[in-house]
Amino acid sequence: MVDKSANIELSRRSILKTTGAIGAAGLALPFGTGSGAALETGEASQWTREHANSIELTDDTTAPVINENSDVISDDYWIWDTWPLRYRDGSIAKINGWQVVFSLTASKDLVPGARHNEATIRYFYSRNGHDWQEGGTAFENPLGHHQWAGSAMYDQSEDQIYHFYTATSPEPEFRQRLALGKGASLRTSPHGVELTGDQEHVIIGEADGDLYQTLEQSREQGIVYAFRDPWYFEHPETGEDLVVFEGNTPTEGDSPDDPQSYNGNVGVMRATNDELTEWELLPPNLEAIEVNQQLERPHYVFNNGKWYLFVLSHKFTFAPGLSGPDALYGFVSDSLYGEYEPLNGSGLVLANPESAPFQAYSWLAMPHGNDVLIESFENFRGLDDTSRGEIGLDEVGHLPPEEQKELFGGTLAPSLKLQLEGTETRVVSELNDGHFLPSGGSNKGANGNNR
Ligand code: FRU
Repeated sequence: MVDKSANIELSRRSILKTTGAIGAAGLALPFGTGSGAALETGEASQWTREHANSIELTDDTTAPVINENSDVISDDYWIWDTWPLRYRDGSIAKINGWQVVFSLTASKDLVPGARHNEATIRYFYSRNGHDWQEGGTAFENPLGHHQWAGSAMYDQSEDQIYHFYTATSPEPEFRQRLALGKGASLRTSPHGVELTGDQEHVIIGEADGDLYQTLEQSREQGIVYAFRDPWYFEHPETGEDLVVFEGNTPTEGDSPDDPQSYNGNVGVMRATNDELTEWELLPPNLEAIEVNQQLERPHYVFNNGKWYLFVLSHKFTFAPGLSGPDALYGFVSDSLYGEYEPLNGSGLVLANPESAPFQAYSWLAMPHGNDVLIESFENFRGLDDTSRGEIGLDEVGHLPPEEQKELFGGTLAPSLKLQLEGTETRVVSELNDGHFLPSGGSNKGANGNNR
């Protein structure tokens, strides 16, 4: 499937990464972004207790309550974390009129809490970015007992998908490694989309125990463990192939009561070959030590020369003495290892409303013109509004299976539009269902060229 233009593309990529100071402009390459200089690593920025102490739900940072009647995109499967197929430059792919998204899915025969151990990545396709039809599974023989979140990049000149995902071992261990499945392509017709081709699967990242805590190191700390959710992007200035992921920094904490046990970070990896099968771990660029255990599904939006880094986190993973909602949090910097400032002072970008604190989760921010479009899935409704005598999140698992299923959405939530203004954000509107819109153009623009 690799044609001649692919070879040209590969050599361009090699040139970009080896030209050093000459830079793309010096070579008059027609491709715009790569300077050829390698990125510089640096110290991780800190999400501090002081920042987190100022978390406050306001109209600008709170989602509207989800109307219960939204459509489900699958009758057979719960769906949760979802990501679009994007081109190498980060823009959402539209191939012969079709868009594709990938979701974690599990059979609706299961109670919602059992889905994590059975997660399978499936794809859905759409002509308009919000009416989705079900495709099949993304992989034939993926790595891991099951697969957790990731990201997918379609290289047009090679006509192949690079699918980054988390290869996870069975519960209760849930050991996580970062994996790549490559080789698949797409066959489109007027009626739909089919994934074709054999895929090769490789592990591209494992916790090293130094920059990133291993499962064994985390055991005494007794909270959830993370080494997952690889998010691919091309460095907007150097052209290097990078992944950010959710990790933990090794710390001394020895119990869930010890704030040191809360050590979430955003990990960084860089590809060391053009095939993207070999990667090196770089230091984390954001840490939440003594603040929060999980900085989930990290991802970037580049806007007006700024790097907006978004993560998700749960109420239950805040360190003792702190509290924050299940929400999308965000930070902004001038570069990959720059000084990240928490958005809105505290980091809070988009929380569930107080009357429905678990209505949605796993928000994904995508560029949309000068704004940001945020997608998520419907989580648990009708929980924890104690003013209405509702049951708590901890109690759901003890309900009869049918009642658990009734409370769970397991489908795309209505998307929201967010305005970015430097370090401030504001929710401005709600769309009627789960949207992924290509009109945002490339997820580039760290030089101010917001496209
Ligand atoms: C967020 C998340 C991801 C993980 C998946 C597991 O919703 O925790 O970090 O990949 O769910 O189901």
